[in-house]
Amino acid sequence: MTAPVRVAVLISGRGSNMQSLASHQGEDYVIALVASDKPDAAGLAWAREQGLPVFAADAKALGKAAFEAALDDALREAGVERIALAGYMRLVSDGFVARWRDRIVNIHPSLLPKYKGLDTHARAIAAGDRTAGCTVHLVTEELDGGAILGQAEVPVEPGDTPDTLAARVLEAEHRLYPAVLKEFVRR
Ligand code: GRF
Repeated sequence: MTAPVRVAVLISGRGSNMQSLASHQGEDYVIALVASDKPDAAGLAWAREQGLPVFAADAKALGKAAFEAALDDALREAGVERIALAGYMRLVSDGFVARWRDRIVNIHPSLLPKYKGLDTHARAIAAGDRTAGCTVHLVTEELDGGAILGQAEVPVEPGDTPDTLAARVLEAEHRLYPAVLKEFVRR
């Protein structure tokens, strides 16, 4: 049997998808690093409590190039083979994408190619969509534009607000992301 693939999870905030990915680690993949562009990201406390290796630096203060260089060092020191963006709110540079070509995935809270970018749930409601959902895709130079690896749909209910819809989509994200990551690390 081959060793589990070493995955880094990149977060900027609460990290609920990171928690779901971590709770599904096992023979397919292990979380080798949790990294954040914000030292005060709420999810870091949970990661540290779990004993997961953590890298956190202030990308805003350091500047993008210095931050990504430090991040790259941390990823290589941790022996990372794949990167999962999970609520990572910073655009990765073209150079970073090139260095990790075909090895970075992201979860996006819409049924891509619909609603790239921000405010996906408000846009789905405003459009009168009957279904919403989430997508795991490869990260390329084009924002939310890489190949789609998996999607999950949820209904948009009458009276939904962006928050109620986000909560329903988030539950789907927590199921979809580990399942797709398990497939992805075998490629
Ligand atoms: C998720 O909805 C994810 O799809 C989006 O940002 C949110 C992050 O939530 N990119 P969490 O930090 O994983 O709880």
